[in-house]
Amino acid sequence: MTEQSAGSGGQDKPTIAIDGPAGSGKSTLSRALGQKLGIGRLDTGAMYRSVAWAVLDQGVDPSDVDAVADVARRIDISMGDLVTVDGTDVTEAIRQDPVNHAVSLVAANPGVRQVLVERQREWVVRHGGGVVEGRDICSVVLPDADLKIYLTASEEERARRRSDEGASSVARRDRLDSSRTVSPLAVAEGARVVDTTDRSVDELVEEIVTWL
Ligand code: DC
Repeated sequence: MTEQSAGSGGQDKPTIAIDGPAGSGKSTLSRALGQKLGIGRLDTGAMYRSVAWAVLDQGVDPSDVDAVADVARRIDISMGDLVTVDGTDVTEAIRQDPVNHAVSLVAANPGVRQVLVERQREWVVRHGGGVVEGRDICSVVLPDADLKIYLTASEEERARRRSDEGASSVARRDRLDSSRTVSPLAVAEGARVVDTTDRSVDELVEEIVTWL
């Protein structure tokens, strides 16, 4: 993976791991925390989405376990303000229906997870810390993070936040992401559970920085 935009260098920045289902507020909160603390942020969901995009783009069957893992190994994913795969800007394409539909299957592939987890850990080392958000960050990617947070929100609120995708698609992804064999979404040991339903971002950031 090539360079992310924010916060390179230094070794004394905090490492914050954030997990939660779709629409729980991970992206908004991690972006705000990264800004507040002056550290980088990595959206690992966008990395799984990038692999799903490449799989579809190359006409690979998303259920072909070996071929999909091979795609993950071969592609270069660049995570910055724009997300690119082998130089192609996929920032918008990875949020569209074809990727929404295929991504949970791609993310359940152990070979894909192995490749991406390694790249995510490399990103943290390269940036000397940062805010990393996803589904298995507290449990698998960064179990020794300075702070581990599991975000939740009411089902109605999560559906409202992801209204562009549609409630049934979001519910389907959450079901698949929580029931898969490899690294299912779950509250990790030592993670603080935070309900974001009726909380403002500023209020949450102020509270969370006191936990560091
Ligand atoms: O955060 P998101 O909705 O953009 O994530 C897209 C998909 O990627 C999601 O359905 C589950 C998967 N994912 C994962 O399995 N592990 C992660 N660390 C991040 C995302």
